[in-house]
Amino acid sequence: MRVLYASTEIYPALKTGGLADVNGALPCALADAGADVRLLLPAFPAIAQAAGVLRTVISLPSPFGGATVRVARGELAGVPAYLIEAGELFARAGNPYVDENGRDWPDNHLRFALLGWAAARFADGTIDDWRPDIVHSHDWHTGLAPAYLAARGGDRPATVFTVHNLGYQGDFPAETFRDLALPANFFSIYGLEFYGRVNFMKAGLHYADRITTVSPTYAAEIQTPEFGFGMDGLLRSRAAVLSGILNGVDRDVWNPATDPAIAVHYGEKSLQGKARCRTALRKACGLAVSDGPLFGVVSRLTSQKGLDLVLAALPALVAAGGQVVLLGAGEAELEAGFLAAATQFAGAVSVRIGYDEEFAHRIFAGSDVILVPSRFEPCGLTQMYALAYGALPLVRRVGGLVDTVGDADAQNLAAGTATGFVFADADVKSLQAALNRAFLLWRQPRQWSLLRRTAMQQDFSWAPAARSYLALYRELRPLA
Ligand code: ADP
Ligand code: GLC
Repeated sequence: MRVLYASTEIYPALKTGGLADVNGALPCALADAGADVRLLLPAFPAIAQAAGVLRTVISLPSPFGGATVRVARGELAGVPAYLIEAGELFARAGNPYVDENGRDWPDNHLRFALLGWAAARFADGTIDDWRPDIVHSHDWHTGLAPAYLAARGGDRPATVFTVHNLGYQGDFPAETFRDLALPANFFSIYGLEFYGRVNFMKAGLHYADRITTVSPTYAAEIQTPEFGFGMDGLLRSRAAVLSGILNGVDRDVWNPATDPAIAVHYGEKSLQGKARCRTALRKACGLAVSDGPLFGVVSRLTSQKGLDLVLAALPALVAAGGQVVLLGAGEAELEAGFLAAATQFAGAVSVRIGYDEEFAHRIFAGSDVILVPSRFEPCGLTQMYALAYGALPLVRRVGGLVDTVGDADAQNLAAGTATGFVFADADVKSLQAALNRAFLLWRQPRQWSLLRRTAMQQDFSWAPAARSYLALYRELRPLA
């Protein structure tokens, strides 16, 4: 089964969020499950550097004018990788999608059209003599790959399009369509047109042979107006080819028994190390010595993540004897709000604005609870990292959070399946009630230890996900 896996970011070379973690682990898991997987990514400087010695496979004229397209081969995350260079289109350091002021690059439609176009060119052997059976693309940046393949018609690879976040769609003015080198009839409601504009996410959703998303619950939610971001009608019409496959955890990276970033290693049976990690974290963050619970947050600061609710709940949380450590970056208002709270509650609330991979590991290791109060959450990885590090996730009942956290309700407590705290509504009252339950349980140390052990025993390895994707590929290409 030859699989071309097209995406934009990959841990550890270039990461803006969970997509990079997935891309850093799933291709290798697919290879372990028996697939011949090759990556296709833009040659962003950090990615080109990580891919080792690059060998030119081909240079070809760009369909979008401008510089020649060069495809080079290297290796990333343990699998072969094709990287695309095209003059200065991808030769920009830093965030792959936005400039240093956080503004979308004005030529993003061309940059990511090129990525989709290049994926499609593998079909006819233009790029290499390796022709994929499946082109598997991820999120809007690669949404045009299924469209270019559909335009080609005939004998072509089957296409799988995975939605990691419907909230980002790659939406451009109508006039960009003429730059995309697609047949005119593709700009239609039965194509990639969306409210008079070009929408790369819609292209993926409309043209792919199969759509997946990163948890079963999100697969159901996106078919409703509440979570569909305008695509719910289309997704309902494609329900027969839409499924959810839960992400996994890369245990080579997220494991408290081996993690090089944390103060002391520990495991489910040797939890003294966790207490020392907590003490070290408190000290590093200037938090007071305390016997109350330490709540951690590692997150993009966007409205998706619901952290405005945490901000509103902070005074009560601190009054109840809790402390908070937050690492995050994003919307200015949230950054300012948390910084002000850190000043107001000095010694109880510590805030670091920025992106820091190692500090993130230390927060998971040192925290008692990890807060993930998302408004929507396609899968969410941080609650799974929390479980692995024995920090109980306190999450909202949405998306992948539902599929990964067992609420400490009477039923789960009795059955031994409780691993955290789940609340229903995106409001402070609902969050507050879950926080109260966490404080109550904290005062029952034996119960807390029990939950923590169950949490650490959860197995979210990538192997089952890889098997599910392979089964899907086989449905599409039984003979490959
Ligand atoms: P999303 O992809 O929506 O941001 P996920 O939970 O899937 O959410 O993945 C987020 C990833 O990004 C995790 O690996 C998390 O540890 C990491 N992360 C988020 N914010 C930061 C930050 N400020 N510093 C370091 N890592 C972060
Ligand atoms: C997106 C989603 C997140 C998911 C990640 C990886 O960034 O917001 O929920 O875990 O993709 O699939």
